[in-house]
Amino acid sequence: MTPKNFENKIEEKIAEAARMLATAEYPVCFTGAGISAESGVPTFRGPDGLWEKHDPQKAVSLSSFRNQPEAFWDFARELVITSGASPNPGHQALARLEEQQILKTVITQNIDMLHQQAGSKNVLELHGSLEKADCRDCGARYSWQELEKILKRDETPECRNCSSLRIKPRIVFFGERLPEKVLENAWQEAQQADLMLVIGSSLQVYPAAGIPDLTLQAGGKLIYINADRGSRPEIFQLILTGRAGSILPRLADSALKISRGD
Ligand code: APR
Ligand code: ZN
Repeated sequence: MTPKNFENKIEEKIAEAARMLATAEYPVCFTGAGISAESGVPTFRGPDGLWEKHDPQKAVSLSSFRNQPEAFWDFARELVITSGASPNPGHQALARLEEQQILKTVITQNIDMLHQQAGSKNVLELHGSLEKADCRDCGARYSWQELEKILKRDETPECRNCSSLRIKPRIVFFGERLPEKVLENAWQEAQQADLMLVIGSSLQVYPAAGIPDLTLQAGGKLIYINADRGSRPEIFQLILTGRAGSILPRLADSALKISRGD
């Protein structure tokens, strides 16, 4: 396939996805690290994924955090400090669709808070977020802004109250349960959705990765917007292969035009 007809193909698929999105009763989206890749935030898997450089069991597990919290902060620094992460056109397109009452909810696995920074209001953070943190030894509370300043100085956060290094952000570590209420809300939203955009996720980590299946089982349809065809192409009605930051704005423009009857 020459680049020209590849481009036409993707245009046709974006037009088809826009029609499905504009005419859906209750469309939602499910996002993973891939939507933040164009903000400079590294993904977890793939050639230069974070799990190639950091052992997840060391970086983001409760047991190692207890004895060696520095390993987590090295990982966190790389995740959101080095990149100076800010929302990209993909996040902004989803916020625009929600503001125009097309998209109902963003269900995300990401902890980088970029959906909210882009303006999305109804965001379910399955794996929590870096926004708030607590000292595990004395309960002192911290905001991401405070911790970010320390990380940018290449230092490791230390509790102002009891000098412990075990200041843990409210994110889900490996071996930890997902926040019950958030997960229940996400299951409800997925079952209510007649369409789910699955964006930038390898769908490898459960229970999050099982959420698109709930939409399918409830009779809804799935559209995949991802850099590759992923491990479960058969569950998708439509697969738009490419960068979320380039596809989503075009998809949002077309869907908004259709919904306005332009
Ligand atoms: N646009 C769209 N998709 C992209 C882009 C991009 N610019 N760049 C990468 N991708 C795709 C990759 O092809 C891959 O399928 O995004 C996906 C990222 O997959 P992962 O790195 O596995 O991220 P994710 O699915 O969110 O991981 C889920 O695993 O380690 C845990 O808790 C962590 O929340 C994370 C969970
Ligand atoms: Zn403390």
